[in-house]
Amino acid sequence: RPRVLSGMQPSADSLHLGNYLGALVNWVKAQDNFEAFFFIPDMHAITVPQDPVELRKRTRVTAAQYIAGGINLEKSTLFVQSQVPEHAQLAWVLNCLTGFGEASRMTQFKDKSSKGGADVSSVGLFTYPVLMAADILLYQPQGVPVGDDQRQHVELARDLANRFNHRFGETFVVPEAFIQKEGARIYDLQNPTSKMSKSASSPNGLINILDDPKIVAKRIKSAVTDADTVVAHDRANKPGVTNLLEILSAVSGTPIPTLVNEFEGKMYGHLKVAVADAVVEALTPVRTRTLELLEDPAELDSILAAGAQKAREVASKTLADVYERVGFMAPL
Ligand code: TYM
Repeated sequence: RPRVLSGMQPSADSLHLGNYLGALVNWVKAQDNFEAFFFIPDMHAITVPQDPVELRKRTRVTAAQYIAGGINLEKSTLFVQSQVPEHAQLAWVLNCLTGFGEASRMTQFKDKSSKGGADVSSVGLFTYPVLMAADILLYQPQGVPVGDDQRQHVELARDLANRFNHRFGETFVVPEAFIQKEGARIYDLQNPTSKMSKSASSPNGLINILDDPKIVAKRIKSAVTDADTVVAHDRANKPGVTNLLEILSAVSGTPIPTLVNEFEGKMYGHLKVAVADAVVEALTPVRTRTLELLEDPAELDSILAAGAQKAREVASKTLADVYERVGFMAPL
C-alpha cells in the first residue's frame, strides 16, 4: 500500500481550527487509502524554548486530539518523534547534504528568527526543516498531507531525497505534499490577512479544539468582516467574509459557490451564525472525546509506545540502508 506521513507540533495547549481543517480531517480521509503514519514532533517543538512539564502534557493532549479527531489505531501508526531515535540519526546525515544558503532561504526560519532576532534563535530552529525531511523520508511515503504553509518544507524533503538518490543510489521515495484546497489556509478571525496560528497576538482570532463551545461561537460571531454587507468570496477585498465562507465550506463539505448563493442578500450575521453552528457541531465531539482520553494517560502512553515500536520497524530499515550507502558501519 502507498504511504502517507504527517505530524503537528505539541507547542500549545490545544490544536486549533487551522490544524484541524488544514491537516487532521485530511489525515482521517487518507488513512482509508494509505498505510498511514502520524506522529507528534516534540523534537521540533524544542527548537524554541518549552517548559518540560508542559511539553510532556501537550504531547499527550496532541495524541489524544489525533485519536479524538478520527485517527484509527487499527489503520494508522501513531507515535512520538523522540521515541524513534532514527529521526535524529537520519537528520544528521541530511544536515550534511543541505547547503547553508539553502537552509537560510527557508521562509519559516526567516519569519520566526526575525521575531526574536537571529542571535537568540537556536541552531535547531535553523535546521528544523532538515529534521522534518528526515521525519518524512524515513517512512518512504508517497504523500505528506499538510496545510499550505508546509509546502516549502516538503519541497526541501523532495530536494534532499533526489540529492541523496543521485549521490548514493536509489534509496528514498520522493514524496509529494498533499494539500486539499478547502481548509488549506485558515486565517485569524480578528486579522483575516494572517493565517490562524497558536502565536496569534490576540486569542480572539483563534479557535482551539478544546475551547468551550460558547467561546467558539462568540469568537466566530465577533469575527472581523468588512464595511459593506455583500457576502462574496473575494480574498483580496473581503478577507474576513472569505475566511468565514472557507471555514464553512471546509466544515460542511458544501462548495463555496453554493454557499455564496445561499447567503446572497442576507446580512453577515446570518453567515456568522451558520459558521458558528457548523464549527461547534464539528468540534464538540472531538473536544469531548479528547477530554475522555486524557483521563487515562497510562493508556495513551502505552498506545504511543506500541506506535513507536511499529514505526521503528520501518524507520530502522531505511536508516540501515542510508548508513550502508554513506559508508558508516551498520547501526547497532
Ligand atoms: P504545525 O504544527 O505548525 O501545523 C500542523 C499542521 O496544521 C497545518 N496548519 C494550518 N492549516 C490551515 N490553516 C492554518 N492556519 C494552519 N496552521 C497550521 C499545517 O500546515 C500542518 O499541516 N513543521 C510542521 C510539523 C512537522 C511535520 C513533519 C509535518 C514536523 N515534521 C513531517 C509533516 C511531516 C509544523 O510545524 O506544523
